Amino acid sequence: MADGFAPLEFTPEVEALTAPVWDKVKSKVTPLDWRVHAPLIAEINRLKAEKNAVILAHNYMTPEIFHGVGDYVGDSLGLAREAARSDARIIVQAGVHFMAETSKVLCPDKTVLIPDLRAGCSLASSITGADVRLIKQRFPGVPVVTYVNTTADVKAETDICCTSANAVQVVEWAAKEWGVDRVILIPDEYLARNVAAQTDVKIIAWKGSCEVHVRFTPEDIAEMRVAYPGAEILAHPECPEEVLNAADFAGSTAAMTSYVETRRPRQVVLITECSMASNIAGDVPGVEFIGPCNLCPHMKRISLQNILNALVKEQFEVTIDPQIADRARLAVQRMIDLPPPSVPARYDLVKARGHHVDVEMI
Ligand code: 13P
Ligand code: SF4
Repeated sequence: MADGFAPLEFTPEVEALTAPVWDKVKSKVTPLDWRVHAPLIAEINRLKAEKNAVILAHNYMTPEIFHGVGDYVGDSLGLAREAARSDARIIVQAGVHFMAETSKVLCPDKTVLIPDLRAGCSLASSITGADVRLIKQRFPGVPVVTYVNTTADVKAETDICCTSANAVQVVEWAAKEWGVDRVILIPDEYLARNVAAQTDVKIIAWKGSCEVHVRFTPEDIAEMRVAYPGAEILAHPECPEEVLNAADFAGSTAAMTSYVETRRPRQVVLITECSMASNIAGDVPGVEFIGPCNLCPHMKRISLQNILNALVKEQFEVTIDPQIADRARLAVQRMIDLPPPSVPARYDLVKARGHHVDVEMI
């Protein structure tokens, strides 16, 4: 039942309407669960049309959200680009709070909703705007590149944002633009180290980390290699560098999707949040996805039920002080205005492994 509203039923009409989604998710969702999900999907899609709303769904959403109600699905860079060009009245962010803030920064006149205000991020909560002001005092003249996994307050203190899809490109752009040989890249220590392995620009880093990716170890990968000798192993750049060095490819969630769709490995291991594999699986029959699997508790706060509640009640609206939003917009827009990153055919591990990693911790 939709929170305080008439119960939603799995009628033959709902079944027919949602059949294409069922086809995509049936290897991951049980028929029993589908009888609950399908009416919610039908109702959410009806309400989106009625209210001129769009749902931006991150790759870590569960398959019924990703395939059932996401109008745009992708990585954080893709979602930000889509928010910037959307002409909907309402944006519902099926993702975490910093992503909704990024949409609000880019679309100050739209209503941006997050289905659960508690959907946070360990990286976003690792640093404040006041921290960045102190860092800037300590390193005057050094450009500040901030991962989008941060609050608007932090973005407002930033010269340019980046995501895991374009971090090397942005760092090199900032060094050239400022005419310097070092750049502050905050707050993810591991992303910073992994960028440092691919560039000659010196990196000043902060000790933040993603609570999901930091749990993966090189031993996990070694075990996978023994158990599944033919499997290709793809890892997210928020993992520790020893994990990336043991993997076959490193890239953002969108780069991993592109890798699997174009190369179609027989067996693949995704060293990232668990739902990624479930979501891609619907689009690449014939590829076998193997664990391990870590869940992001923040992403998992978003459900079909609270997305429906968000649309019905137009809750929970994300608001940002306009002065902060104006300053944060400069940093996000600068990133969006750079050409889209090309997805590497293969992460150059040989170069990265031999490269001196020049990182100064704050
Ligand atoms: P992407 O930018 O690859 O989508 O990653 C976002 C995120 O939260 C990863 O943990
Ligand atoms: Fe934040 Fe990590 Fe969750 Fe992404 S997976 S939202 S970086 S805690």
